[in-house]
Amino acid sequence: MHPTLKGAVYVTALFIGSEIIYQIYRKYKRKSKHRKENESKSRLSKSSLQVLFFPDKDVACRDYFISGDGCFKSNCQFSHSKTSLSELCKHMMSSQRSLDVCVFVITCRDLADILLKLHRRGVKIRIITDKGMLHTDGSQIWTLQKEGIAVRTNNSSFFMHHKFAIKDQQVLINGSFNWTRQAITGNQENVLITDDLAVTSQFMAEFQKLWEHFDTS
Ligand SMILES: *[C@@H]1O[C@H](CO)[C@@H](O)[C@H](O)[C@H]1NC(C)=O
Ligand SMILES: *[C@@H]1O[C@H](CO)[C@@H](O)[C@H](O)[C@H]1NC(C)=O
Ligand SMILES: *[C@@H]1O[C@H](CO)[C@@H](O)[C@H](O)[C@H]1NC(C)=O
Ligand SMILES: *[C@@H]1O[C@H](CO)[C@@H](O)[C@H](O)[C@H]1NC(C)=O
Ligand SMILES: *[C@@H]1O[C@H](CO)[C@@H](O)[C@H](O)[C@H]1NC(C)=O
Ligand SMILES: [Zn+2]
Repeated sequence: MHPTLKGAVYVTALFIGSEIIYQIYRKYKRKSKHRKENESKSRLSKSSLQVLFFPDKDVACRDYFISGDGCFKSNCQFSHSKTSLSELCKHMMSSQRSLDVCVFVITCRDLADILLKLHRRGVKIRIITDKGMLHTDGSQIWTLQKEGIAVRTNNSSFFMHHKFAIKDQQVLINGSFNWTRQAITGNQENVLITDDLAVTSQFMAEFQKLWEHFDTS
């Protein structure tokens, strides 16, 4: 072969070869980028997180969301669509085995009714609350205790100011708000719901610590 022709063949072969290698490289890179994206997506979906904000614009219908019998009023004035309260109720109602509640004050009938319902269904309910708030107006603690729900408090001048609950030793419901009507319909409040073990395990340990240190009341 003529040396110049030989050189041209070499250059062409080299060009085609490197182009092939480059395309393979690009394809691989795209794939691994996809894989990385997919990995981080699945990491996110492995632990779920939800944040609720109060106040609700509309008041969730008791019959529809809480009593569980359904609402049959033809023009019910309360909300049948999702609200922060209805989402919170849904989370609490889905407790299968246990619900540990550690809240400063409980005066909200709706939330107390859910605790009673769960208790009657055989879900183990434990409540830690502030001693001073036992006697507050509208406190639901007596009713809950009368039904046999275990309640513990500490006789201290310091507030038991936590506001969290743990469902089935798995899901943390933590927020700024007292379990009162006002906090739901008036105040600006936030509630964070997560099953991230790194967080829930610490709250479970805190609950257990207080449960052991506090007195039955
Ligand atoms: C990443 O997920 C998309 C769909 O969400 C799928 O089409 C693609 O094949 C996945 N890629 C890898 C590398 O798993
Ligand atoms: C609570 O503590 C106060 C002072 O420390 C004491 O006087 C009171 O008797 C205690 N109450 C109960 C129910 O233990
Ligand atoms: C309970 O209250 C007492 C004071 O009456 C206090 O010394 C103690 O630290 C409190 N326990 C906890 C776990 O907060
Ligand atoms: C729990 O809620 C309180 C009040 O909003 C907040 O200060 C705290 O950071 C929350 N904890 C977690 C782990 O989200
Ligand atoms: C919780 O309730 C107590 C007593 O009603 C009140 O003093 C306190 O401000 C409330 N806290 C929040 C964050 O609403
Ligand atoms: Zn209704």
